[in-house]
Amino acid sequence: MRDANPQPVYLSEYQPPAFEVENLELDFDLAAATTEVTTRMAVRRNPQAAEPGAPLRLYGDGVELVSLTVDGAEPGEGMLEEDADGLLLHGLPEAARLEIVSRCHPEQNTALEGLYASSGNLCTQCEPEGFRRITFFPDRPDVLTTYRVRLEADRAQYPVLLANGNRVEAGELDGGRHYAVWEDPFPKPSYLFALVAGDLACQRDTFTTMSGREVALELYVEAHNADRCDHALASLKRAMRYDEEAFGREYDLDVYMIVAVDDFNMGAMENKGLNLFNAKFVLASPDTATDDDFVAIESVIAHEYFHNWSGNRVTCRDWFQLSLKEGLTVFRDQEFTTDCTLFGVKRIDDVSLLRAHQFPEDAGPLAHPVRPDHYAEINNFYTLTVYEKGAELIRMLRTLIGGETFRRGLDVYFERFDGQAVTTDDFVAVMAEVSGRDLTAFKRWYTQAGTPHVTAATAQDGSTGEFRISLGQYTPPTPGQEHKEPVVIPVRVAMLDADGRRIRGRLEGGPEQDEWVLELDRSERSFHFDELSATPQAVSWLRGFSAPVILEANQSATTLAHLLAHDDDAFSRWEAAQTLMRRAIRARIEDDAADPVLEAEIQHALAALLEDPAIEPVLLATILQLPPPRELAELFDCVDPVRLRAERDALEARLYAPLADRLRDRQPKLDDIDNGAFTADAMGQRRLRNRLLALRVAAGDESAVPEVLEQYRKARSQTMRMGALNAINDLNHEARGLLLADFERRYHDDPLVLDKYFGLQAASQVPGGFDRLEYLLQHPGFRWSNPNRVRAVLGPFMARNERHFHQADGEGYHRIAGFVEKLDRMNPQTAARLVQPLTRWRKVDPARGEQMRAELERLAALEISRDLRDVIERALADA
Ligand code: PHE
Ligand code: ZN
Repeated sequence: MRDANPQPVYLSEYQPPAFEVENLELDFDLAAATTEVTTRMAVRRNPQAAEPGAPLRLYGDGVELVSLTVDGAEPGEGMLEEDADGLLLHGLPEAARLEIVSRCHPEQNTALEGLYASSGNLCTQCEPEGFRRITFFPDRPDVLTTYRVRLEADRAQYPVLLANGNRVEAGELDGGRHYAVWEDPFPKPSYLFALVAGDLACQRDTFTTMSGREVALELYVEAHNADRCDHALASLKRAMRYDEEAFGREYDLDVYMIVAVDDFNMGAMENKGLNLFNAKFVLASPDTATDDDFVAIESVIAHEYFHNWSGNRVTCRDWFQLSLKEGLTVFRDQEFTTDCTLFGVKRIDDVSLLRAHQFPEDAGPLAHPVRPDHYAEINNFYTLTVYEKGAELIRMLRTLIGGETFRRGLDVYFERFDGQAVTTDDFVAVMAEVSGRDLTAFKRWYTQAGTPHVTAATAQDGSTGEFRISLGQYTPPTPGQEHKEPVVIPVRVAMLDADGRRIRGRLEGGPEQDEWVLELDRSERSFHFDELSATPQAVSWLRGFSAPVILEANQSATTLAHLLAHDDDAFSRWEAAQTLMRRAIRARIEDDAADPVLEAEIQHALAALLEDPAIEPVLLATILQLPPPRELAELFDCVDPVRLRAERDALEARLYAPLADRLRDRQPKLDDIDNGAFTADAMGQRRLRNRLLALRVAAGDESAVPEVLEQYRKARSQTMRMGALNAINDLNHEARGLLLADFERRYHDDPLVLDKYFGLQAASQVPGGFDRLEYLLQHPGFRWSNPNRVRAVLGPFMARNERHFHQADGEGYHRIAGFVEKLDRMNPQTAARLVQPLTRWRKVDPARGEQMRAELERLAALEISRDLRDVIERALADA
């Protein structure tokens, strides 16, 4: 078994592999209890290897070795060494053929890494280091080879046998068994290997690529879900077309398969030609999935599809380079969703996610660079920093070198490194080459953790008509990185005149423009504008959120209201409202008194917005939302989370109570919008109606409650049903109990919808949270072995149920620590994620912080997994 207290791995110690694998054959004799694997590979010494006579490392984790031969013979004396990481083969010749027979036990595999059983089917998850739980192999991403896979199993139990690539052979065998042989012509690293054996229904479609090849699309689900596949297939086709049109990328195999799995640690996995998906990101019908679910499915399908180029054809040299594929692929899926579905609001949704989750990560004990330089457990680096901040870096590169140059750079990158395993430095070097720019300083974004703060100020010289912008930057220290260098920050700005129109002018003698990208590449820098066409009334900063920074611009409430009313940049408009609301909360918490003047100004601006006939419904809905508590907490060094939530809710009520009539008047009619249309406009209208209804309830408008009941009863879609439930979920009113009981009855045997019920109950601030939690954990639909169920209950409990999770006596922390301990014995990866809210002990008031820390200490003293230990130790080291 592997070491629970491992030495960290360092990027600086990277060595090319000692051997290349020229080809690989895997024969699986599949059964749930014990699966036998025969692994045949041709290995050859790597000319790039550092040490000429180095041994061959074959990683293995919990795999039983049955036999091993080298060129058909037993290894000689002292050749084979077994250690905690697997096997070492010493004294191999220049080239050799290995044959290894090994066994693993899918049914006992509750970690869901490697080969495991889910709903009676067998499937695999290999990224990042799961392949070594299936067989002995040089399981590292820079070892690429071609795979020929033979699957053999009982026909009745496993009628469908799938692996990567093309099926080249299949047939019947004696004793009710059958087999299939799959070949993947594209060399790949082992983390992209997949197999599936099961009883699954297949939904088929086809896609004709830009060069006219027909690709078979196959979506495999359990038979009872066959009617929930249309959206996923339509999304896949949109993504395939988009990648051709926007990025010039064509699919390469003849078949693209997606399999939905009930038990899955993550969202989905981009295995070559055979994606495995958490069922949650495949199955949808208007009755079971909300608009947000539809959008999430579309974007995960696209994400995994886009990996075929950004990840599979060009892969990572080592796991420090994870953002090479993830940052780039998130960027690509964000572009897709922006262009195909949500338009301006997608950017706002992405920024909200970044601020509420990545910024706290980057300011806490688990902060790490987008390209980390060491890790103890790589499973713990599938983070918002690697994914979402990584995508922001790609976006900034595009902003800095321009869209066309960036696109050319991508073409060069894909062509030059096709079939190779490369680094983020390689990626940036291509962008430097095509743009002719020196991007050395930009690369600090990859190596430095922490969110930069940018200060912005303006000065106007009335006599010369000159306008000056001064920018400064500062990045606070993060664990292991005391001192920070300045990074290159593209700050997109515009100036608005008194009528809200963009002002034209020149930046330092440049061409006349009405929008600029200011490059803040030092600690401080000033930018001079002249020949402005009008006097700036407001500066629109960081348009489109041009960099992942915290901006401190000190704008007056009047200026912000002007931006809110007029700015043509959706992000900036939303941000103006967010800034106002953040300021009001801050006043309340820090000065212990509301700021009535400020609140009146905000109310006035919101009232005007509600009267604006031109604003897009979806944007209006998004702007009206107060910042989430998670994000507000970042305004303070530490804060009592129960009080913060209460102050936020109270501000919401104060702001919206006098606007209740306007909110009601602005609500789209249920019958007009509950039409099942998956268009940006229809989804925007539904988002607006649900948001307005929820705001009315939050503002104490009694007349909204019967409307919630009516909406729930009349709803034809899950979006409107959930809209009603969300609106009423924190209200201690009998209507809440009635609706939730109805919902539970209605969906008790539909796990994915039942998860929504779990989430509502777990998140509710209504008293009795611990009883509800206990009820949910005893619910017949709950299972500790299923990550979706566990996350559906405990995720919202920790993220949104401040009153109970942060209950002053520490009961919430104690319960969670107990659940983490229990879960860790089954599924370390999920346990290590679940514990993370407890790691933020420094961000809450000292009394609570001490309780959280004590729970972490208690867990640290137990025998826990390496995944969990890594997280807890980093959290405790931050003392
Ligand atoms: N590589 C997957 C993705 O980003 C995520 C994943 C990581 C899935 C590890 C499973 C295990 O789409
Ligand atoms: Zn990914």
